[in-house]
Amino acid sequence: MMSKRLLAQTRRLPPRSSVRRSSSSSLHSKAAPATIAQLPVEMPDCNHRPVAYEGSSYEQILKTRRNHLTPNLLAHFKKPLVIHAGHMQWLFDHEGRRYLDMFGGIVTVSVGHCHPKVNQALSEQTAKLWHTTNIYMHPKIHEYAERLVAKFPGDLKSVCFVNSGSEANDLAMLMARLHTGHQDILSLRNCYHGMSPYTMGLTAHSTWRFSLPGVNNGLVHVMNPDPYQGIWGGSNCRDSPVQTTRECQCTAGCQAGDAYYNELEETFKYSLPRGKVAAMFAESIQGVGGTVQFPKGYLKRAAALVRANGGLFVADEVQTGFGRTGEHFWGFEGHDYVPDIVTMAKGIGNGFPLAAVVTTPEIAASLGQALHFNTYGGNPMASAVGIAVLDVIEEEQLQRNSLEVGTYFLKGLAELQQRFEIIGDVRGKGLMIGVELVGNREKRTPLVTPHVLDIWEKCKDQGVLFGRGGLHGNVLRIKPPMCITLADVKFAMDVLALAITESQPENN
Ligand SMILES: Cc1ncc(COP(=O)(O)O)c(C=O)c1O
Repeated sequence: MMSKRLLAQTRRLPPRSSVRRSSSSSLHSKAAPATIAQLPVEMPDCNHRPVAYEGSSYEQILKTRRNHLTPNLLAHFKKPLVIHAGHMQWLFDHEGRRYLDMFGGIVTVSVGHCHPKVNQALSEQTAKLWHTTNIYMHPKIHEYAERLVAKFPGDLKSVCFVNSGSEANDLAMLMARLHTGHQDILSLRNCYHGMSPYTMGLTAHSTWRFSLPGVNNGLVHVMNPDPYQGIWGGSNCRDSPVQTTRECQCTAGCQAGDAYYNELEETFKYSLPRGKVAAMFAESIQGVGGTVQFPKGYLKRAAALVRANGGLFVADEVQTGFGRTGEHFWGFEGHDYVPDIVTMAKGIGNGFPLAAVVTTPEIAASLGQALHFNTYGGNPMASAVGIAVLDVIEEEQLQRNSLEVGTYFLKGLAELQQRFEIIGDVRGKGLMIGVELVGNREKRTPLVTPHVLDIWEKCKDQGVLFGRGGLHGNVLRIKPPMCITLADVKFAMDVLALAITESQPENN
């Protein structure tokens, strides 16, 4: 049943006819549509008025960035944006333009930019106590630990707070090696688990890897069970309202899932010392890799295989946790298994540097072999923010909103896929969505980068900020703050449709 909140939103939605559309269904149609600027695509209202920007000039910011910030800092868009204020799902640039944030600071702003309740919790805490380290007992970390572990099933009741996803995964790797006495760790190709030297090796994405000695030490990347781009296809095996356009002959069970699982077994036979392993890591839905979902049942079977060979299974919930996938609070619950270790970051702190590793007391005890210390992990400010984020998710039913608004979004995008050849795949769950843009739908070849960039820029010019991901950067990543509304989704889809219609390969 639709929630009251969503029913009210549905009543407020502008009629679809209020957006004038091109009758063209093909990107390459010669029927000339009006230019985007002429079309009445309406941005939903927002009552918030940001304070006026009074900082350095645009030119000065560019100069400082060029001269003094690390040269590999990414800058999105031909003319990079200066964002100086945010409110819930909205961002404001230095000239007062408003943008619908469909990427949430890279899947980090979970409950909304500058959410008043989180702001208040932080300011109350900063007035009382910033920091002591954990050599003294401050109340907030204890209150927060109770609240956080209550969200986990089974024996997952011990938490260690850190400051970033990479740190959380580093710690999980260490725990698994100490606890099992084995060294080798498996991860899936196309995964992203961080940028520290330890986790860079775990990350199996050439874009994010440097050539350094030792990075691959004790790490094995196994075949990615990807029903859209993978060799075995799979037409009905994703846990998503939208399936691939691939074919399969499955009547009962999932042949693609079986084939990928057999590949994993081969890795145990050939690549691991006497078949033993310390751990296997997996995101519940791959994020940076372009919102890739696995055949249903794969992770559950993989976890059983890993455990049977002496290892632990680690769920990386850095992107998929805290209700984003809608149906469950944690992504792994959608795969019907309970991991041994769960790592989390990003949405946990709504933008505050906070991350955590949750595991069983027994596994956590393996850290007792030496002293383990983290200066900032779970400090009073971080813990106050973490508690407020949990409160807001519950009070505002954001998990439910993710499910309902996300499902509407996915189904709407699937309709767009019918209209535009260029949309090869729509996938995801809740508000963890990917739209893969292709040059050739049958061959699933990635759309060439200039064309992707043109569409992406056009969306930005109309006030919608999407992310990009996947090995070729051709997947639009849609992971907004979980407070977005149906009207926002409709606006985003109208903008995307117009951007695709307007974008011509020959313009690039
Ligand atoms: C799934 C996943 N794990 C780990 C990380 C690393 O997190 P951080 O950038 O906070 O170190 C990321 C970052 O994007 C991620 O997406």
